Amino acid sequence: MRIGMLTGGGDCPGLNAVIRGAVLSGTAAGADFVGFRDGWRGPLDGLTMTLGPVEVRNILERGGTILGSSRTNPLKIEGGLEQIRTTLLEHNVDALIAIGGEDTLGVAEKLNDAGMAVVGVPKTIDNDLSGTDYTFGFDTSVNIAMEAIDRLHTTADSHHRVLVVEVMGRHAGWIALHSGMAGSAAAILIPEQEFDLDEVAGWCRSHASRGRAPIVVVAEGAQASGGSLSVKDADLDSFGHVRLSGIGERLAAELERRTGIESRSVLLGHLQRGGTPTAFDRVLGTRFGAAAFSAVQDRDFGCMVALRGTDIVRIPLAEAVGTLKTVPPQRYAEARAFFG
Ligand code: F6P
Repeated sequence: MRIGMLTGGGDCPGLNAVIRGAVLSGTAAGADFVGFRDGWRGPLDGLTMTLGPVEVRNILERGGTILGSSRTNPLKIEGGLEQIRTTLLEHNVDALIAIGGEDTLGVAEKLNDAGMAVVGVPKTIDNDLSGTDYTFGFDTSVNIAMEAIDRLHTTADSHHRVLVVEVMGRHAGWIALHSGMAGSAAAILIPEQEFDLDEVAGWCRSHASRGRAPIVVVAEGAQASGGSLSVKDADLDSFGHVRLSGIGERLAAELERRTGIESRSVLLGHLQRGGTPTAFDRVLGTRFGAAAFSAVQDRDFGCMVALRGTDIVRIPLAEAVGTLKTVPPQRYAEARAFFG
């Protein structure tokens, strides 16, 4: 059996663990692999690389993806799906393992519906894919953000400043919620819940009045009520997403104006996606990779491997890509009890 593998969308610590997990368990069972480079661009343009035990040596601890990634969307290219079918036939690929987020797995579902044999693996630092309790990469990015917040506390305390930390999360505030709770933020602002600027200023003032410099963690997709601070680029990516960034800077200026406390902002950006994965993400990625190979071996196509509790299960791809898993109001309320 010959298995193709690709990684699509924004990269994520733990991708190499998945690749290694699938290749090592697959080759031990007699399968062989071909890597498609740079997401869906690989099977569209026939960009391949050798993928076997030698290529996956020493990659478990490496961030990024040895296969490369892109946000290429074959559904936006005329004849894209047929082009992929032709490439898979040319390379004698019996099944494809697609590792990605909602966009990549949405394409995987369409390919599977069109008769190609596809298994999905959920990936995103944002942790916003439905059907799985956690995606790998999330734990690493939360730890990176938490460490940044820990460092910002000491400098903010020294200068009696407000520090606003902008983290990733266009539609879901999981990274903000977890890193903010772990870093004892004075306020956490997420896309799921519009925030009121006066209320945030109030939390900062009460925090400062107790002698501690307030740290405000804001997800890039968070919105002030009335849309007053929204920051969007004119460009959309090929999956139609707006590019966001800059809310942290604007928020810091507003908080300074409203509280009279000197304020600064830090944009963590792609630092959150870089570098070595945590132990949690290495283990989850490895288990997902091995489970994806088992699904291929069982010819259980059209499924995605997922984490439920501590078990790895298989769910239909359609279940994973239908709706995003956002932060439930109850989870936000738990964190909010500690604001101010
Ligand atoms: O893929 C998820 C994500 O990390 C988002 O949180 C973020 O908005 C986006 O990727 C940034 O993507 P890019 O690499 O295209 O700048």
